Amino acid sequence: MAMDHLKIRVPATSANLGAGFDVFGIALETPFDIIDIEKSDCIEIVVLGRESQFVPIDPKRNTAGIVASLLKTPVKITIHRGIPLSSGLGSSAAPAAGVAFALNEMFALGLSRLELVGIAAQGEKAASGAAHADNVAPAIYGGFVIVHKDKIISLMPENVGIVAVHPEIIVSTREARAILPEKLSIADISFNTANAASMVVGMMKNDIRLIGESMENRVIEEIRSTFIKGYLEVKKSAIYAGAAGVTISGSGPTLIAVCRMDERKMIAEVMVKAFADNNVKSEAFITTIGKGIEIIWS
Ligand code: HSE
Repeated sequence: MAMDHLKIRVPATSANLGAGFDVFGIALETPFDIIDIEKSDCIEIVVLGRESQFVPIDPKRNTAGIVASLLKTPVKITIHRGIPLSSGLGSSAAPAAGVAFALNEMFALGLSRLELVGIAAQGEKAASGAAHADNVAPAIYGGFVIVHKDKIISLMPENVGIVAVHPEIIVSTREARAILPEKLSIADISFNTANAASMVVGMMKNDIRLIGESMENRVIEEIRSTFIKGYLEVKKSAIYAGAAGVTISGSGPTLIAVCRMDERKMIAEVMVKAFADNNVKSEAFITTIGKGIEIIWS
């Protein structure tokens, strides 16, 4: 049934999980954006909430506006932002994925989830310069996803503790991609492939230790960590406090730790303290792997 107005909740996401660059992603229970979409005569964007003054409202430059243009659906989109901007938590992917999902429902477009991922990734391209789908796919599917060339595989692991600590450091995905090497050695590919395979087993078995250990990766993390003041100290402090693993969330600067649910608070505290010892303010999200986009009102 076609609808005139929809309100949705769109989760933050964490891409890569170390070894799965542009391949793995998870939806997080918190933080999230709330998005209102109403049928209208033209595409209009309103942005409210945290850091809203920095988000473009020109539909040609806003990831959600680009999606609405691609689908040729005139709507007013009001984004209540909860996901920190340029954090590596999928803040530009969330509106793109949310609006693709909502417009499919409102205009009864009959698109599959896989097709929605492709459209949302086009919106995401405007922000990062590349149409990678490892944020939009978990936002739409929920859980842990594997982005393959022409398919998405998803799983819903349970009780995996996640601590996402966002330092007040600006990292643009565009720049964080530009510094990556074009080639990796066979030894590095082999190491990352082994960890990517272990990660999938860890997710299938809800094995927190295996998930955490499998987040180690070669080359990408080391290069990107140079953007994150205090990276090594924060990582060490989390591991020392019991985390199974720590990695950069997406292109950063957020660091995510995987741990038992009951260890999250303590790990969050030591990570925030380690950033503070490096004169970097940070905000911790105590969370877990969560659901995809949900309709909260129609
Ligand atoms: N896979 C992407 C990257 C995610 O690491 O550049 C960006 O959030």
